Amino acid sequence: MKSIIVSMIAAAGLMVAGSAMATDMPDLAKKSGCTACHTVEKKLVGPAWRDVSKAYNKVGATGTAVDPAAYKVTQKVADILKEHGKATPQAWLEEKVAKGGKGDWFDTTAMTPNAPKVSAADIKTLVEFVLGLEK
Ligand code: HEC
Repeated sequence: MKSIIVSMIAAAGLMVAGSAMATDMPDLAKKSGCTACHTVEKKLVGPAWRDVSKAYNKVGATGTAVDPAAYKVTQKVADILKEHGKATPQAWLEEKVAKGGKGDWFDTTAMTPNAPKVSAADIKTLVEFVLGLEK
């Protein structure tokens, strides 16, 4: 089952790379400093936002939270939410983006805190954008 998930993600990645549908980072992400570490389609310092969206909307709903070939973690989204006492990926990711942290994608590279530099309202909008990439 795991290998099926991995190859499905690999195929989806090729389709994205080969199409003209690559999504640019929104102005709010540039203004908020997210682009120093993230792009939509490719892993940079942090995970590609499309992969985050896939993890929380698709792969993680049934199996492992992220693509184990590209990234490290193998937790189910339901377990991640339970661990942090959150009801939805939106609520969890708003807190994660505000406070920063590591361990969900990478063991050693952390996201630095984005609040209070980035407002709660802007973080909410950005997380909605990320999760909306792969509904
Ligand atoms: C200093 C680099 C850096 C900056 C700036 C940064 N990030 Fe991140 N981001 C990371 C890293 C590294 C991770 C992976 C953390 C982990 O392994 O738990 C990450 C993870 C994420 C995730 C997935 C979190 C999870 O637990 O699944 C989201 C969503 C995200 N970032 C959004 C943002 C947004 C929105 C901004 C701008 C307000 C931002 N990031 C700014 C480095 C950064």
